[in-house]
Amino acid sequence: MPATIEIMQGDITTLAVDAVVNAANNTLLGGGGVDGAIHRAAGPELLEECASLGGCETGEAKITKGYRLPAGFVIHTVGPVWSDGEHGEPELLESAYRRCFEVAREHGVQSIAFPAVSAGVYGYPMRKAAVIALKQALKASEHGNFERIIFVQFNQAAQQVYREAAATLGIR
Ligand code: AR6
Repeated sequence: MPATIEIMQGDITTLAVDAVVNAANNTLLGGGGVDGAIHRAAGPELLEECASLGGCETGEAKITKGYRLPAGFVIHTVGPVWSDGEHGEPELLESAYRRCFEVAREHGVQSIAFPAVSAGVYGYPMRKAAVIALKQALKASEHGNFERIIFVQFNQAAQQVYREAAATLGIR
């Protein structure tokens, strides 16, 4: 069975899924946005484990436990900072999603929730980012390991962008 791909509005820190993805930075030592929210909700043990990981390259992903989150794992990925789209940003964002799915699969994750990686502080245009995210989800869903792939947006406008991008890709 291919995974269901879901688009929803909400706070990713509240979701009882096997893994939530964090839009982190290269240090993995916390920050603002969704990264700050995940660290606040997970508690200080998350930062302790992150500090032992030696950072994370852009386009890579590393996994930790979820601690006080309802999610079992956090998969920390680092998306690219958008400059003009001509500096490898699409390839790096694609790689970030691909690596999240690979790491998730290695840990038996069946339900996974993503924020809009790079589309906040890092400035990646939301629509372009949504298309990349959804294409990688379609690929991952074909492998049969995942039951649910969820894209969580903080606000209504972003959710609408995801829904429109999904429609253009034939996801319903
Ligand atoms: N649940 C779901 N989505 C959220 C939440 C939440 N609780 N909080 C924010 N978002 P950003 P980036 C949305 O800036 O662009 C950090 O400081 C937000 O509205 O969190 O990859 C890191 O440490 C936006 O649509 O991530 C890095 O330094 C999306 O999540 C840097 O920001 C991603 O926005 C990474 O920047």
